[in-house]
Amino acid sequence: MPAQPNRRTVLQLGAGVAAAGVLAACTSDGSVTATPTPTAPGWLPPAEPMAFPAGFVWGAATSAFQVEGSTTADGRGPSIWDTFAATPGRISDGSTGDPAADHYRLWESDLDLIADLGLPAYRFSVAWPRIQPTGSGEVNQAGVDFYRRLVDGLLTRGIHPAITLYHWDLPQALQDDGGWTVRDTADRFGEYAAIMFEALKDVDATWLTINEPKTTAYVGHRWGAHAPGISDVDQAAAAIHHQLLGHGRAVQAFRASGAAGGIGIALNLLPVYPTSREADPAAVRTDAVENRMFLDPVLLGRYPSDALGSKPGQLPADGEAFEALVQDGDLEVISEPLDVLAVQYYGVTGVDDVGNQVEVYPTSAAVWQQVHPEGLYDLLMDLLIDYPDAPPLVITENGIPDPTSEGTTDDPERLEFLRAHLQQAARAIGDGVRLVGYYAWSLLDNFEWAEGMSQRWGLVHVDFETQERTPKASAEWYSSAVRANEVAPS
Ligand code: FCB
Repeated sequence: MPAQPNRRTVLQLGAGVAAAGVLAACTSDGSVTATPTPTAPGWLPPAEPMAFPAGFVWGAATSAFQVEGSTTADGRGPSIWDTFAATPGRISDGSTGDPAADHYRLWESDLDLIADLGLPAYRFSVAWPRIQPTGSGEVNQAGVDFYRRLVDGLLTRGIHPAITLYHWDLPQALQDDGGWTVRDTADRFGEYAAIMFEALKDVDATWLTINEPKTTAYVGHRWGAHAPGISDVDQAAAAIHHQLLGHGRAVQAFRASGAAGGIGIALNLLPVYPTSREADPAAVRTDAVENRMFLDPVLLGRYPSDALGSKPGQLPADGEAFEALVQDGDLEVISEPLDVLAVQYYGVTGVDDVGNQVEVYPTSAAVWQQVHPEGLYDLLMDLLIDYPDAPPLVITENGIPDPTSEGTTDDPERLEFLRAHLQQAARAIGDGVRLVGYYAWSLLDNFEWAEGMSQRWGLVHVDFETQERTPKASAEWYSSAVRANEVAPS
């Protein structure tokens, strides 16, 4: 693969002063230089509301396994998350994907709820094992029909569908054949995607191929904390390439289908802040592992040269084995032009000089989430500078869990989180970023993967005993912001 370090900024924290800093840039020879930036106090939001452009798309997001339940209904096959959740010790509270938020049965009233909140868009995912119970071959028409009804229900209510094709629920039969560690799965994904484009080709939807390939690779295959529960860094690297290849095959199938709407991929990106000048090189490599390993192949048609290896901050995978997986033409497929780049933003990380990711901002109840709204601005501006030819951006996930697992409808933390992040989004738009939409995570309290039902991310509270929905204070606030197309100061 070509050695092409691109310019990617990382912020260096001043000695303990979180917001001030020095921009460090990776130059073309791979060395890190420092560019002094103003040491003025951090940016402050204006006293007036910040307006969004006309036509800005506002929504909320869910994913199939997290909300649907009904995991054996209407011919659905088992997914890796059914298997994982059924394995003792994998899910913190022992819950499974049933009934989750029972959305498979309550979808109509959930669409009414979205309409009542005045949200112009809804992001959901299709469960592949409802469409092809074993991941290949025969189509299960009952599964297709469910999503057709859901999409028609959205259109009837004037709500734009954003449809994720893969949000982690791989058919178990494909996992039995190697899952994302084998190339065949990319081909199967392309076939499944083509089925969905054909079924919904008349719909002006925003299609997203793969949700967070990084999480599946690292959390699912390196750390084993998500399905399929593998702990092997080389399998993690293989899972990156095969997911991205599957993404590219789906984009090709989308173009061939002549379907209306547009297509992109949903990448979770992580601004990386070195904790000292000595940490700069490790931070640049961490940026490669966390961000450029996904952005570069998709947007530039090449993998970064500094992501894999044994230096501080790198993914300690076998680079030659990885290169051997990348066949001629793969990177052309992976970098098929997109209509939109979906960005998922939850927070930032610090990196020390030995490459450890460290806490530099306070975490939410999700220990991995260091909350730093200004990081969203940094990220969007970095994308503008580093990938000037990228398609328009849409934020497809951003949110925070309730502080405790009990659940509440009084959620000032989430309200302020949304406000602060939307202010940074508006600021970035003002500074030239082509950001066309924003989806809060999540519409509903739901099954939060390894945390089960014990971590609630919803704008809307769900009583898991009765399945009663109650909008939280943040939902009411978000609804007003959406209707006004602006974010008010606190
Ligand atoms: C993201 C996932 C989403 C949800 C949030 C909290 O990584 O895409 O399904 O779990 O985190």
